[in-house]
Amino acid sequence: MNIGFVGAGGFAKGFVPLFKLHPLVDKVYITDLIPERREEYAAKFDIRTFESFDVMLESDIDSVAIFTQRHLHGPLAIKALKSGKHVYSAVPMANEICEIQEIVDLAARKGLIYMTGETAYYYPGAIFCRTEMKKGSFGDFVYAEAQYYHDMNHGFYDVYKRSGSENWKKVAGIPPMYYPTHSIGALVSATGAHVIKTSCFGFRDTSGDGVFGEGMNYWDNPFSNETALLYMSNGGVCRANEFRRIGIKKSTSYISCFYGTRASYEEAFTEHVFMEADETGTKMKFRSISSLLNSRVMEEHRGDPDFMERVANGEYDHRSSSPIMNTGRLPAEFKPEMSGHRGVPKFLVDDFVKAVNCNKLPPNNAWDSARYNIPGLIAHESAVKGGALIDVPDLGDPPEGWDMLDPDSGI
Ligand SMILES: NC(=O)c1ccc[n+]([C@@H]2O[C@H](COP(=O)([O-])OP(=O)(O)OC[C@H]3O[C@@H](n4cnc5c(N)ncnc54)[C@H](O)[C@@H]3O)[C@@H](O)[C@H]2O)c1
Repeated sequence: MNIGFVGAGGFAKGFVPLFKLHPLVDKVYITDLIPERREEYAAKFDIRTFESFDVMLESDIDSVAIFTQRHLHGPLAIKALKSGKHVYSAVPMANEICEIQEIVDLAARKGLIYMTGETAYYYPGAIFCRTEMKKGSFGDFVYAEAQYYHDMNHGFYDVYKRSGSENWKKVAGIPPMYYPTHSIGALVSATGAHVIKTSCFGFRDTSGDGVFGEGMNYWDNPFSNETALLYMSNGGVCRANEFRRIGIKKSTSYISCFYGTRASYEEAFTEHVFMEADETGTKMKFRSISSLLNSRVMEEHRGDPDFMERVANGEYDHRSSSPIMNTGRLPAEFKPEMSGHRGVPKFLVDDFVKAVNCNKLPPNNAWDSARYNIPGLIAHESAVKGGALIDVPDLGDPPEGWDMLDPDSGI
């Protein structure tokens, strides 16, 4: 396959080399509105550039990878699908429900692979809860909490300034629930259920930095933090936080608790525990699973005197994967390449490439992605209405008969 990247910014740097290394990928190209950026990529990664997305669509690519700013994905994905290209998109899928619907319809009608690169899917807590939920260890699902915490002071101002010109604040004030997939995606993928109703509250920003507030951004959004209660299709309840003004740096994107009628999982900072009812149902079996879920580098440094402070600043997060992540399923060519985000991009790239080559549906396919994204758009609407309870539309399951890639084996 040949893949063309749109967006030569910060994040694509971790993905271009992986697509180049994958044995089932032939050519990798890139385009960016800013000529210096695409030239920088050409020089660094030895890839061909195109002057525009439209020109790139006319080339010999069969797939597109969208890495533009977070509010710009939907229309590019629709254009690519209409041109008959498979699409890998950085999250979120889109900002409008009608765009999400169109992406799902196009993928179904044309039989094209569409996938979002939802990193939370392969984060250790999500893998653990999803696996145990499927096995039945939790019993019936009851309640879970997940969050994506990213304070504006932790690198976000720079991210928005990098590509936002003088209008960067208008984009930076995007409603937190318009980027909901690191929390809601983790919950949907781990429960195997989807959201039916939501009620959400917003925290009116108090910083005075001119980013969040009525009239200050493209969405007229006053909230820097949003908290949604989600009523799920299996009768359980979830709570999702999307915070951009918060006194915590790490963890950022994680499931903090997950409860069923038989068992429970909890994460607190460096500790992960799993408690399961014994055969009598009257006593609990306790298992520490920290060394299974934490990154290998983090566990190696447990004895360091400044260990906790380093964890709080995320110093071990992106340097290695965790034992629960089956890196054995990845192409051997990936091994020397470290991609940040705990090595998750390797799984996402491998999923997409295999999905296109084998015509199988990847995890985080169009239907999954819609279920990660639409509840957030509705949650923001609820927050604007002071927490009103609103039904969440569901676009359903993928068409029957389309085989799925297995996330554990990658086959
Ligand atoms: N954990 C995660 O999943 C994760 C982490 C970081 C970033 N992201 C996502 O990755 C995406 C990219 O983030 P980034 O930090 O690299 O952004 P960035 O601002 O650094 O880069 C975006 C680039 O896209 C280019 N661009 C925009 N519209 C274009 C068009 N029509 N044609 C060609 N080029 C165009 C811009 O000029 C810019 O260079 C964002 O959507 C972000 O949300 C996801």
